[in-house]
Amino acid sequence: MNKKLSTSVIARNYKIQPENLFSYLVSELYLYKKGKEYKLTDNGIKLGGSYRKSIEEGTGKEYTVVVWEFDCLNQIITTKFAPNLKDSKYRYPNDFMKIKKEFGKREGVWESLNNGTAILNTEQQLNQYLFSHGAKHNAKLLKAFKELLNEINKKQKIQIIDYGCGQGIASIVFLNELERIKFPISNIEKIILIDPGELAINRAYEFLKKSADVIKINKDIDNISTQDLSTSKDAIKFHLFSNILDMGDKHFDLKKLSDNIVNSQIGDNYFICVSAMNEEKLHEFTEYITSTKINTPSLLELEKIIGMEKDTSKVDFSKETRLPTVKFISYDAEDIDNTSTYSDSKPWKNIHIIFKKEFVK
Ligand SMILES: C[S@@+](CC[C@H](N)C(=O)[O-])C[C@H]1O[C@@H](n2cnc3c(N)ncnc32)[C@H](O)[C@@H]1O
Repeated sequence: MNKKLSTSVIARNYKIQPENLFSYLVSELYLYKKGKEYKLTDNGIKLGGSYRKSIEEGTGKEYTVVVWEFDCLNQIITTKFAPNLKDSKYRYPNDFMKIKKEFGKREGVWESLNNGTAILNTEQQLNQYLFSHGAKHNAKLLKAFKELLNEINKKQKIQIIDYGCGQGIASIVFLNELERIKFPISNIEKIILIDPGELAINRAYEFLKKSADVIKINKDIDNISTQDLSTSKDAIKFHLFSNILDMGDKHFDLKKLSDNIVNSQIGDNYFICVSAMNEEKLHEFTEYITSTKINTPSLLELEKIIGMEKDTSKVDFSKETRLPTVKFISYDAEDIDNTSTYSDSKPWKNIHIIFKKEFVK
């Protein structure tokens, strides 16, 4: 007889989030929740579910888990819950916070990360980076991607470029969100990872290689060419800038990067720019890409405080502003107080600028 597996184990075999599978089985009336435990409905029993007793580690308390013969759920998963998985050789990556839990470690090398801007040369630095910066990067990215999801059509083919990708946090969190909205993974045509750090980009590749055609560009931003940014005209491009534009003009030339993008992309392009500081660099980049002078809400606020007249040669970065090839989607610059007691934690800003630009050639 086949070994029976828990719902969570089956979900992980398919590289889907267990909580998503549980919610689906509850919504389809195979399971219901009693207290903290899931129980089988009559439908669930008919489908082949049963119970197994387990002992909670640490407390020794007995509890029951729902188990299935693999084939019972296999049918439902591949025909109804996630039909996109059936024909695809690709799988979504693990949830980023799980990756952080597994790899993030306090290694005592925080100083060497240079506030996260250093090119990382050792495994210890990679682990420390995830430990020290992972949670706040995840929070900022999730907030930004939530603003973008309304724009996504599940029939679209998409391509992703992750600039200064490090260990691939931005791409992973983006894919986690795409999985949550059941975006067909086979529609993610490619992911281009760019970073000068060999160790970091290799780790990003390992996390993402099962999810799409992943191309590594192991270069710094000043050395990338328009060929490195090659994408297809018909795919929707997502350009991810996670904690990298704020390093512009100190570590690389922001204008040169913008020119490379403008000269290589055709069609619809989304720019997701996220940082914890140097909002003005994200602002500058937005102006280069859109060829438009903009007032961001924070600039307008500042002008109000110091009693200046608004610069009328600029357009407002707002959802209401309509331009022929530009759509302003979301702007944020929220102050975050870090209440953590770790010495390497301090207040930060949750900055994002998200816009769409159509390049017409
Ligand atoms: C603050 S981290 C951001 C990494 C990742 N995007 C994230 O959000 O975790 C900065 C990254 O920039 C990379 N980097 C440093 N100088 C660079 C340059 N000139 N061009 C491109 N990337 C650079 C580093 O290797 C590092 O991975």
